Amino acid sequence: MTGEIGVGLIGTGFMGRSHAFAYNSVKAIFGDVLAPKRLVLCDLDEAVAKQKATEFGFERSTTHWREVIADPAVELVSITTWNGTHKQIAIAALEAGKHVYCEKPMALSLKHAEEMAAAARKAKGCVTMMGYNYIKNPAVQSMKRLVASGLIGDVIDFRGTVDEDYMADPMLPWSWRLKAADAGLGTLGDITCHLISLALDVVGPIAKLTALLDTVHKQRPLADKPGEDAAVENDDVAHALVRFKNGARGTIASSRVAHGRKNVLRIEVHGTKGMLVFDQERMNELQLYTADGPKETRGFRTILTGPQHPPYDRFVPAPGHQLGFNDMKAIELAHLLRAIKGEVKPHMSFEDGLKIEYVIDAIVRSSKDGVWVAVA
Ligand SMILES: NC(=O)c1ccc[n+]([C@@H]2O[C@H](COP(=O)([O-])OP(=O)(O)OC[C@H]3O[C@@H](n4cnc5c(N)ncnc54)[C@H](O)[C@@H]3O)[C@@H](O)[C@H]2O)c1
Repeated sequence: MTGEIGVGLIGTGFMGRSHAFAYNSVKAIFGDVLAPKRLVLCDLDEAVAKQKATEFGFERSTTHWREVIADPAVELVSITTWNGTHKQIAIAALEAGKHVYCEKPMALSLKHAEEMAAAARKAKGCVTMMGYNYIKNPAVQSMKRLVASGLIGDVIDFRGTVDEDYMADPMLPWSWRLKAADAGLGTLGDITCHLISLALDVVGPIAKLTALLDTVHKQRPLADKPGEDAAVENDDVAHALVRFKNGARGTIASSRVAHGRKNVLRIEVHGTKGMLVFDQERMNELQLYTADGPKETRGFRTILTGPQHPPYDRFVPAPGHQLGFNDMKAIELAHLLRAIKGEVKPHMSFEDGLKIEYVIDAIVRSSKDGVWVAVA
């Protein structure tokens, strides 16, 4: 393998741009990684695809994703299309011997996610990575290390919330995100999965849970047909009470209709000796409380991310200057490129992503039957 890697990007929307940002910047930031060669990108509309190729710095564009996979120079395929397309594109790419970088969630159903993980197992030498970027935040990685170090004692409780308000206005028009065939689940597949990635990464596997899925706004207006509505086919709210395998208990609360919340992806890890708190809306900070020292001086303290929290130092040499959302994508891509070179184990691979899908599936089953269920 040379010092370069040929890249194809499928989908050029919100996440397509974020992947492009990572491909454009990863070499400058990390230095000792493969240099992405931006060969071909794909989107459904020809004019959009052409324009994005120019903007994102790709050599050419196409409107057929199979052309991206058929290009022998493409070694790594990014999938940033709607959820309903992930399975077909990922499996075709793996069968063609490509590495795959796929946005979350894996697919529309557990069965489809299992098929993707099986294809990844079969594709020897191909590395897979899921876009669970929040776990790559240096602050979250530090939290994980501090929890494992025993600083806050044994973990006794986990409180997880992910709230956004992108669907809070009941008059917001219907979109693909609300359609089961394109998006699969609602809040659960869109944002709760990120919260689950943090819970599993920081605390560990979940053994069982009981859950509630609900749709608050059951109809949405159709943007292109004034006066007509379409049914919302997935959940606005997803909550669960969980028992971790290590005995800790916890809550998972999530909503896409929470007015005022922009990206409250907040986790609290309660220990026998203290507590650690992270909130994505304050993504460069950790809150730490340790139950020691004179009682009158006790209280939460804020730890600002800095060079002591790798790989922050790759971006900025000075503390407190702050990283942003797209920087997590560059960290994720650097990790993938190192995994392709065999320097690290990929995380979140499709195999890891499947563990999140098992929790999602348990939430769906529990909500349907109104009972506690074991996570497969
Ligand atoms: N990791 C994160 O933090 C994060 C954040 C937002 C979205 N996502 C995920 O990223 C994916 C895309 O979401 P988005 O917000 O970027 O959506 P988007 O609508 O902004 O962009 C999707 C793009 O894919 C294109 N597309 C759809 N089907 C295609 C096909 N068959 N061939 C080629 N192009 C196709 C669309 O035309 C569109 O340009 C979803 O799976 C979503 O869950 C992840």
